[in-house]
Amino acid sequence: MILSIESSCDDSSIAVMEIKNKKLLFHKKISQEIEHAKYGGVVPELASRLHAEALPKILEETKEFFPKLKAIAVTSAPGLSVTLQEGVMMAKSLSIALNLPIIAVNHLIGHIYSLFIEKEEIKPIMVLLISGGHTKILNFNGIDNICEIATTLDDSFGESFDKCAKMLGLNYPGGPEIEKLAKKGENKISLPLPLKNSPDIKFSYSGLKNAVRLVIEEKRYKKEDIAASFQEKAIEHLVFMSKRAIKKYKPQKFAIVGGASANKRVREEFEKLAKKFDFNLFYPDFKYTSDNAAMIARAGIELYEKNKFTDFKNLTVMPKVEFRKC
Ligand code: KG4
Ligand code: ZN
Repeated sequence: MILSIESSCDDSSIAVMEIKNKKLLFHKKISQEIEHAKYGGVVPELASRLHAEALPKILEETKEFFPKLKAIAVTSAPGLSVTLQEGVMMAKSLSIALNLPIIAVNHLIGHIYSLFIEKEEIKPIMVLLISGGHTKILNFNGIDNICEIATTLDDSFGESFDKCAKMLGLNYPGGPEIEKLAKKGENKISLPLPLKNSPDIKFSYSGLKNAVRLVIEEKRYKKEDIAASFQEKAIEHLVFMSKRAIKKYKPQKFAIVGGASANKRVREEFEKLAKKFDFNLFYPDFKYTSDNAAMIARAGIELYEKNKFTDFKNLTVMPKVEFRKC
């Protein structure tokens, strides 16, 4: 079995997974959303203190598995340095106490493996990752064969929902709040489609966010209509750029992962695209769209099977990581 730890942002989570059949034996997550909501976003120092309280509490419940563990997998990058550090310190302590190797897992690769919890890998597959920190299109062909087709020049998809929600006086995290409010509104406010005249495959959400700010300042429109119009334009940009990637690389399989893959309008629009371009569409189960340790355990198993352990002394946290360009 592998024990995994996730603390890259505001979720403290630990999982235990059987190596041979990828069965999830234990999974628990304590989210800090309520604590950060009053600040309208994640406060790194507060997040790190909350991880320091929550992780040992969850670990306590996994003691029965300790004798059967073969390795400790931990998210080491990318994320907030101070919160990643909490998970990595726990992994190092467990590694010494139980004499086990450590496997450092890239959180973004973890999101890809959220597709394969209790399942075998599907590859090759094009993956759209939409979370609070990232908006990327990746080509996945195994854990050591991932390349990047597109990324964002500025804000991420989820982040733009969080920021627009804050401007509208809604709660954090903003994604589900905007989605809920948008259902009561109409897409009738004209907003700019980002990078529509650029020939490249890339994302940008800061211009759209600023356009929403100006609309709010005009005080002419209902919040519901602003939410609906923003959400539709944000999704139109995702679809516009994904379509370019699909035309260029012609994937037979396509997946959407990350916290924002829970958005139902995103799923509806990509289902239309799947019909039009004749590819199979995949998502993680709803319970694994946001940050969790089950996906880290699943990616950890893949690295374990390839003997990709991380030397204790070289294990550091990295706020950013780069993928090879496709
Ligand atoms: O993957 P995740 O849990 O954490 C990161 O790795 O960033 O993603 C969280 C992000 C937040 O920005 C949140 O607002 C967004 O995902 N999100 C959504 C929805 N649910 C979560 N965005 C749009 N629509 C949603 N339903
Ligand atoms: Zn994430």
